[in-house]
Amino acid sequence: MNAFIQGLPKVELHLHIEGSLEPELLFELAKRNNIDIPYDSPETLRRAYEFEDLQSFLDIYYQGANALRTEQDFYDLTWAYLERCKADNVIHTEIFFDPQTHTDRGIDFDTVINGIYRAMQDGHDKLGITSQIIACFLRHLSEESAFETLQSVLNHQDKIIGVGLDSSEQGHPPEKFKHVFQQAKVEGLLTVAHAGEEGPAQNIIDAIEMLGVNRVDHGVRCVEDASLVERLIESKMPLTVCPLSNIKLCVFDNMAQHNIVELLRKGVAVTINSDDPAYFGGYMTDNFLAVSNAHSMSKQELAQFTINAINASFISDGLKTEYRAQVEDYLTAYQ
Ligand code: HPA
Ligand code: ZN
Repeated sequence: MNAFIQGLPKVELHLHIEGSLEPELLFELAKRNNIDIPYDSPETLRRAYEFEDLQSFLDIYYQGANALRTEQDFYDLTWAYLERCKADNVIHTEIFFDPQTHTDRGIDFDTVINGIYRAMQDGHDKLGITSQIIACFLRHLSEESAFETLQSVLNHQDKIIGVGLDSSEQGHPPEKFKHVFQQAKVEGLLTVAHAGEEGPAQNIIDAIEMLGVNRVDHGVRCVEDASLVERLIESKMPLTVCPLSNIKLCVFDNMAQHNIVELLRKGVAVTINSDDPAYFGGYMTDNFLAVSNAHSMSKQELAQFTINAINASFISDGLKTEYRAQVEDYLTAYQ
C-alpha cells in the first residue's frame, strides 16, 4: 500500500507557499539577508513547532515569512516546494500566497509574484508539473486592505487564477469580505475561502452564499450540520482537506478521529492537501500515508482523492481528462 500511495499521481489544491519554508532554507535566507533568528539551529527551530490552535501556528508562520526578502528568495522557496512535489508524484498544484504578509513589511507585490511565477515556469519546463497561483486575503486585516491587494492582483491577472481567504477564522467571518469577493468575481477571478476549519459550519454556508466560492478550504466542520453535508454532496462542492494540519492544530485529537474518510464515503468531494508542510510534518505522500494508516481504505478510494482534486482544480477540461486517464491507468496497472 505504501508503494501504491507513493506512486499514485496526486494533485494539490491547498498549499500556502510561505508554509513550505523548511527551517534549513529559513536559516540560509536569514544569513543571506542579515536577519537574526532567535534559534541556534534548524533543528531547535523545528522542535519549537508545537501548536495548540490555529493562532499559535500563525504567529510562528508570519515570523518565518519575515526571512523572505528578494525575488530570488521567493524563487528558491517555490522551487524547493516543486522539487518535493516531483518526489511525491504531484502532477499539478494550485499554490496560495499571502501578499499582505509581504507588502505590509515593505516588500513589493511584484517581487513576490515574479519569484513564485518564475519557479512555476521552471517547474513546468524542467519537472513537468503544471501549476496555478491563488492570492489570499488575510482575514484579520480589513476589507479595505483586501481591496488594495485585489488591485495588485489585477495588475498580474495573467499569472493569478483566483483569490482566497486565510488567517484567523475566529472573529473574522466570510461576511466581512463579501464586497471584495464580489468585485474579484466581476473581474473574472475564481474564488476559494478557508471556512469550517476552526470556525462553525455557518462559515461554510456563508462562504458559499456570500462569497460565491468555487471550493471550500478545510470545511471539516460541515458535519455539524447534516443539511449542509447533503448540500455539499448534491452541489459537488469540493473541500480541500488537510489531514496532518488538522492534527497539528488540534482540530481533531488524532487521525483515527478525522472525518475525511467518512465524508469521502458519503460522497462529499473531499481532497487531500498539505497546507503548510514545513510546519505540519509532511508533504502530499505523508498526508495520504497518515490517512491510510489510520483508516482501512481501498486503492480505488485512495485514487478517488486524486480524481476529486482533478475535478475541483482550475485547469482546462482537456487537461482534466488527460490527468484522470493517468490515474485510471495507474490503478489498472496495479490490479
Ligand atoms: N488556516 C488559516 N490560515 C492559514 C492556514 C490555515 O490552515 N495556513 C496558512 N494560513
Ligand atoms: Zn490553509
